[in-house]
Amino acid sequence: MRTIIEPFRIKSVEPIRQTTPAEREGFLKAAGYNLFQIPASDILIDLLTDSGTSAMSTEQWAAIMRGDESYAGSVSFYRLKAAVQDLTGFQNVIPTHQGRAAERILFSTVCKPGHIVPNNTHFDTTRANIEFTGAKAVDLPLPEACDTQARIPFKGNMDVAALARLIEAEGAKKIPLVMVTVTNNSGGGQPVSMANLEAVRAITAKHGIPFYLDACRFAENAYFIQQGEAAFSTWTPKQIAQRMFSLADGCTFSAKKDAFANIGGFLCTNNDLLAAQEKDLLILTEGFPTYGGLAGRDLDAIAVGLEEVLHPDYLQYRIASTAYLGRHIADHGVPIVEPPGGHAIYIDAGRMLPHIPRNQFPGQSLGVELYRHAGVRSVEIGSVMFGENARHELLRLAIPRRVYTQSHID
Ligand SMILES: Cc1ncc(COP(=O)(O)O)c(C=O)c1O
Repeated sequence: MRTIIEPFRIKSVEPIRQTTPAEREGFLKAAGYNLFQIPASDILIDLLTDSGTSAMSTEQWAAIMRGDESYAGSVSFYRLKAAVQDLTGFQNVIPTHQGRAAERILFSTVCKPGHIVPNNTHFDTTRANIEFTGAKAVDLPLPEACDTQARIPFKGNMDVAALARLIEAEGAKKIPLVMVTVTNNSGGGQPVSMANLEAVRAITAKHGIPFYLDACRFAENAYFIQQGEAAFSTWTPKQIAQRMFSLADGCTFSAKKDAFANIGGFLCTNNDLLAAQEKDLLILTEGFPTYGGLAGRDLDAIAVGLEEVLHPDYLQYRIASTAYLGRHIADHGVPIVEPPGGHAIYIDAGRMLPHIPRNQFPGQSLGVELYRHAGVRSVEIGSVMFGENARHELLRLAIPRRVYTQSHID
């Protein structure tokens, strides 16, 4: 692959520290081989997560200085609301301190025991917040997505036939909402097509069920739609994102991903009555509805990030650099979840290390070895994370946004 030119230059730098293999062996032992327990100062390249780890731009830092810290009616909130409404069209915008707070408020307002919430694949906090209310979280990925090696486009799609069967079998009354996660993080960071979102919209509208997006990586998803669906090849990423949101009745959002913010999130809905109930709950635990657990400056950083993340140069670089890492790993014979997704490369550790049985955690073993060998931190997505529910034994290398250069990736 050709060199990727990062579409930014670096104004502020953070040192990273080389350690010796013997030191790393000691750090691993002290951490009980749990990579989450290793201090970040002992990591050379940190691919644990793309969440909250982005480098903010000069415009975002400038916006931070403009932040209005008024308790009620902060001007920063109105700037955020305008940016979110321009993008999503949703009537109600409720800020939260991060994505899972939006999930908790949404699900504890609409779910009760006996309810079922389908998703292409629930993220772990989404599943947990649903199950905490006594409702059931059901994953409906494409059957073909089970094969990590299958190179099909839009592998993150929801199985709409399975959704139709579920509604038929359980009845629409039991389903307070249908959610689609873009991109499908737990499913390998794979995108969802506009055709799939339209099909989910059609089914949910037919049964009067609200349709929500878990929109954390909406911009990366929009870029995949532009590249992969002919009808959208001449649309800008922003126009595509606006179309995606226009199909939904609401969304949850973690601004720690596709808004380049280090903290933040929001919950949106077109239902005014629901929004009023959600704001009551928000006041109980997050704060007044014009700050929702954030500082005014955070709201401003998110507003700017939402605009920047849709720049075509950035998205082209972002998706190309993820694919670059993926192809390099795969071309050396290491199986990855194919094709490379938006924010991370997932090594199929179960397939790479067939001699390590599941109960000895191949993904975790590989993650430990990668740190021991190179000081690179990654995260297991398999039996350690999901227990018996794990579909694969994966090791995720998540790429922080605008943080590492091509030489780090090499
Ligand atoms: C798809 C998805 N949904 C929800 C969340 C939760 O967001 P947060 O970490 O901001 O609570 C994440 C975080 O990684 C995610 O990837």
